[in-house]
Amino acid sequence: MSTERNILITGGAGFIGSHVVRRFVTKYPNYRIINLDVLTYAGNLENLRDVERASNYTFVKADICDAEAMTKVFKEYAIDSVIHLAAESHVDRSITDPLSFVRTNVFGTVTLLNAAKEAWKHGSGVSSTPLLGRGPGGEGRFYHVSTDEVYGSLHDDSLFLETTPYDPQSPYSASKAASDHFVRAYGNTYKLPFVVSNCSNNYGSHHFPEKLIPLMINNIRNNKPLPVYGKGENVRDWLWVEDHASAIDTVFHKGVNGETYNIGGHNEWTNIDLVHLLCSIMDAKLERAKGESAKLITYVTDRAGHDLRYAIDAGKIERELGWKPTITFEEGLERTVEWYLANTEWLDHVTSGAYRSYYDAQYAR
Ligand code: NAD
Ligand code: TYD
Repeated sequence: MSTERNILITGGAGFIGSHVVRRFVTKYPNYRIINLDVLTYAGNLENLRDVERASNYTFVKADICDAEAMTKVFKEYAIDSVIHLAAESHVDRSITDPLSFVRTNVFGTVTLLNAAKEAWKHGSGVSSTPLLGRGPGGEGRFYHVSTDEVYGSLHDDSLFLETTPYDPQSPYSASKAASDHFVRAYGNTYKLPFVVSNCSNNYGSHHFPEKLIPLMINNIRNNKPLPVYGKGENVRDWLWVEDHASAIDTVFHKGVNGETYNIGGHNEWTNIDLVHLLCSIMDAKLERAKGESAKLITYVTDRAGHDLRYAIDAGKIERELGWKPTITFEEGLERTVEWYLANTEWLDHVTSGAYRSYYDAQYAR
């Protein structure tokens, strides 16, 4: 198979990764997409059922912390670019088990960086010339997908800019900040061409129901309590996941090496207002009396060290690369709720653990 590019996407079986894989596989038939994922609890190959048989798609089950496996993948598939999403991603889990976040997000990212540095130094990319030090627009870039949580917690009405100093407050954001620093350090020290983007909270289909929006949708559906941490006054800036995937496509193709791009939807909501909005959408969809689902709201103990507010200034990516979100929050949330209600089997598989046998059934020989 002759391909224009051989792109390694890590974490492609997860929430955002599966949207990025689907977009690249379908939009770029001349790219070969290698989805590398170790399939933790958050990795679900059922997310990619619709593209798994595409001729330009390959799945590799491997751990980004496994240096030998990473070296092998770069060589076997002549990887010329990386879009790195694999991570431990849930703040609550990082509070109970910080070391697994250090392992994957820091050690794993550096292991992947080493593999890229070595592979590209010896010119094993598609162009067969050394890729280290290539200028803007060149092949061989390492794209690190990161979070706005590295900037810390806002206590006034300001917004996160690309120049905002890092001030991570949770074990999750500290591990992502460390991985961002390592990517930039490899750029400076080894001239590894890289680009970083820091995005706000995503929502949409295929989101593991431990995060706020899918958890609430699933609990409303099952008439279970809706746990709102603290007073529900914390603010998050929500972006539809397919708009994030389109931003990643834009940054990957048009972003300037060495640069950072903030991605967000200018869409701030307090948690409690958001949960009320979801309840009213669900009341209508489930033909419940108005106000019925909101009765499930239950205030629970606050998250330790709970960041008050995140909000992104996405002006740079709009001005310099021409990207902006395509849909409103109301539309995105409506589509999201409809997807979960039409895919209750997906939700039931994820909550029962049945999705974990999909790899063995489809891939293991
Ligand atoms: P997710 O938890 O849904 O998916 C993570 C994926 O990484 C899973 O498929 C998992 O199996 C895989 N993975 C974990 N450890 C691995 C390892 N050691 N080796 C290989 N694969 C491994 O996460 P997500 O919400 O899709 O986030 C993807 C990326 O985007 C993360 O880097 C996250 O920090 C970043 N991000 C997420 C959000 C958000 O709102 N979810 C916002 C901004 C940035
Ligand atoms: P989450 O989806 O975990 O994303 P993050 O912590 O990375 O922003 O949580 C979003 C917000 O919702 C956050 O302020 C914590 C809050 N939250 C609840 O109130 N209840 C819940 O059950 C969860 C999972 C989150």
